[in-house]
Amino acid sequence: MSAIGITLQPRPTDASVDHAIQAIVAGASSAETCNTDLASGPWDFDSRPGYGPGSSMGDVIPTGSPRQGELPQEYRDASEAELAARIVAAKATLGDRVVVLGHFYQREEVILHADYVGDSFQLANAALEHPDAEAIVFCGVHFMAETADLLSQPEQSVILPNLAAGCSMADMADIDQVEECWEQLADVYGDMDATDADGLVPVVPVTYMNSSAAIKGFVGRHGGIVCTSSNARTVLEWAFERGRRVLFFPDQHLGRNTAKAMGVPLEQMPMWNPRKPLGGSDAQTLDDARVILWHGFCSVHRRFSVEQIERARVEHSGVRVIVHPECPMEVVDAADESGSTDYIRRAIEGATEPTTFAIGTEVNLVQRLAADNPQHEIFCLDPVVCPCSTMYRIHPGYLAWVLEGLVAGEVRNRITVPADVADPARLALERMLAAKPPAAPAADWENAS
Ligand code: 13P
Ligand code: SF4
Repeated sequence: MSAIGITLQPRPTDASVDHAIQAIVAGASSAETCNTDLASGPWDFDSRPGYGPGSSMGDVIPTGSPRQGELPQEYRDASEAELAARIVAAKATLGDRVVVLGHFYQREEVILHADYVGDSFQLANAALEHPDAEAIVFCGVHFMAETADLLSQPEQSVILPNLAAGCSMADMADIDQVEECWEQLADVYGDMDATDADGLVPVVPVTYMNSSAAIKGFVGRHGGIVCTSSNARTVLEWAFERGRRVLFFPDQHLGRNTAKAMGVPLEQMPMWNPRKPLGGSDAQTLDDARVILWHGFCSVHRRFSVEQIERARVEHSGVRVIVHPECPMEVVDAADESGSTDYIRRAIEGATEPTTFAIGTEVNLVQRLAADNPQHEIFCLDPVVCPCSTMYRIHPGYLAWVLEGLVAGEVRNRITVPADVADPARLALERMLAAKPPAAPAADWENAS
């Protein structure tokens, strides 16, 4: 069984998923990985189209997705210790001129150098709080760097160490498809800006933070709003105060799980498949709809299943199962709780008695939580070690390369959102920041099932 799996023995004290994968590939561990190529340096995949090995390796990557140029040989050849020393030295030289942000799903070898570690929302705020830093190095994925660019000062550079670190779920909502969907919905509902007797417009678009700046801009232009996994309920309540229905993208699961917890019946949540006329639905169904769900999903969270939860319950009596709301509805329903990455972290750190936790989210976070909380037994529900393909594209070699570039006066891999998109996208983000839950202070989305 897996070194990070259900029958994990002993509990991992090393937070590095890379070390676990290297041990599997070297035959020193009986655990399993979804792709032995994960043991190679990510530069092996930079010249090839695709998301790379890991959870999203089977997803179709849009043509024109950003590609990472060749990483100089010295960074590929350097050992883990050498890279760590070079990163520390570059950061010491740069001082307050740079802020390094690390998403919870990043490799441990990258997290070690982050000034802030958190979820996408917390890291966007961290960017906002450092207006004096010349550069914000965002160790995460493309949409997060775009969001940091939207919220930071115009003269600040936001840097994504590997341009191939996209997000396959964010890529599932393409701006042309979304514009086309809106036009088709206007054919069904009529004037999309007209209000009915209750003062409601036909549809309010809501996009998950995990979407391109272009989609956030679309939402901003059409009276809509952004949400994260920690405020999705608050945001849906905001949207229902303004619209008869919600168009939710790109993650069908977050949309469905949140709306279901609010009491919206499943039959009033049709799916919109952008490859089919009327999204594969019909005018009557769309008329009755409360939430129209875009056909997107996260390939990391789609790996979790009810069978894994049942097995965890058999093998670990009293286990507390917490999953991310990007998991399918059946998995969220079978879990004890669901919540954002930060909710999961707080739930574990807040447990006063030694507890066994089975967690349904990305393995880098789970393995770090296990290492940091040795008083608890913590394991990933997925027994196969399969990190997020694109988060894993950020290797310390790229971090050293961008930081040493800054030391040499060169900004590498800058992410810039064009002004025509940035203004409405910022508006959609500002609406989210201003939206407050009706009964403060219950700010976090959670669902005890
Ligand atoms: P957070 O919004 O919790 O950071 O999650 C981002 C993500 O990519 C989840 O899959
Ligand atoms: Fe995207 Fe899923 Fe990876 Fe998050 S975990 S960055 S949603 S593919």
